[in-house]
Amino acid sequence: MSEIAARAHVHAFTPVVRAALDEAGPAPSDIGAVAVTTGPGLSGALRVGLTGAKGLAYALDVPLYGVHHLAGHVAADTLEHGPLPDPCVVLIVSGGHTSLLLVRDLVRDPIVHLGDTLDDAAGECFGKVARVFGLPYPGGPAIDRTTREGDPRAVAFPRPLTGPRDDPYAFSFSGLKTAAARWAEGHRCTALPVADGVGALVVVGGVAANSRVRTLAEERCAAAGITLRVPPLRLCTDNGAMIAAVGDLLVRADGEPAPLDVSIDPSAPLESAVLHPVARHPATRHRHPAAAG
Ligand code: KG4
Ligand code: ZN
Repeated sequence: MSEIAARAHVHAFTPVVRAALDEAGPAPSDIGAVAVTTGPGLSGALRVGLTGAKGLAYALDVPLYGVHHLAGHVAADTLEHGPLPDPCVVLIVSGGHTSLLLVRDLVRDPIVHLGDTLDDAAGECFGKVARVFGLPYPGGPAIDRTTREGDPRAVAFPRPLTGPRDDPYAFSFSGLKTAAARWAEGHRCTALPVADGVGALVVVGGVAANSRVRTLAEERCAAAGITLRVPPLRLCTDNGAMIAAVGDLLVRADGEPAPLDVSIDPSAPLESAVLHPVARHPATRHRHPAAAG
């Protein structure tokens, strides 16, 4: 998987950069900085992206910034709605992650995790349920289309973590996945807990494209008097503009560029928007060749 993704990145890199520049208008000499995802993700694809970005930054003689992929999802909303309210609560629902965060200044302050999924990510649940129902990969968009005409109350799916001792901000999708696999119809509802005292909720990530998630977020936030921000559909799923948006914030904040030997971290936890891992010592790097990717 990683190998196929890496090869696809090799083939796509130059045409995508060229098309992006053509469409957006600037000449290469107008570029002031290059931002690239250094993690998390598939190691081969990350490596190709980082190598290409280093080449670009070196050729243009501009600073390079390594960006955490999920911080990109958060920044995506600024492209449509301007600067994020400080503080805000961010719900990230993507293919690989489900987290509730407290975000202050996205590129200056540490990112605080209020809650995370205990098992699957939201998008993973869509994927597994879709497979059971014979819907096409990656599942989320197909379930969204199929269920739009359905009755959301038709099946009483279990709602996890509702006990008095359960973490109020954690998530769990494995029970729902199992329940959906047993029933002849799949759908899910998301509770949207918001930390006390914060007036804005930002919902981002691929699953934020889901119609039901968007509608519920609107209803719940309106009822609670909370400002809701959700990026437009095209900025919810993975895209390059969201990484550039973090780069833009970093340039404005006078962020420290990545060192020349910046590497990748395929499983980086989300602690800050900047992600500048440095490669391990060469003596240890090749100890587990089979584990790469
Ligand atoms: O954020 P993303 O593009 O990639 C990751 O960083 O993981 O999220 C991809 C996930 C996939 O699981 C896909 O099924 C889900 O987002 N997704 C959706 C919808 N569009 C994409 N899930 C539910 N409804 C959608 N409309
Ligand atoms: Zn993503």
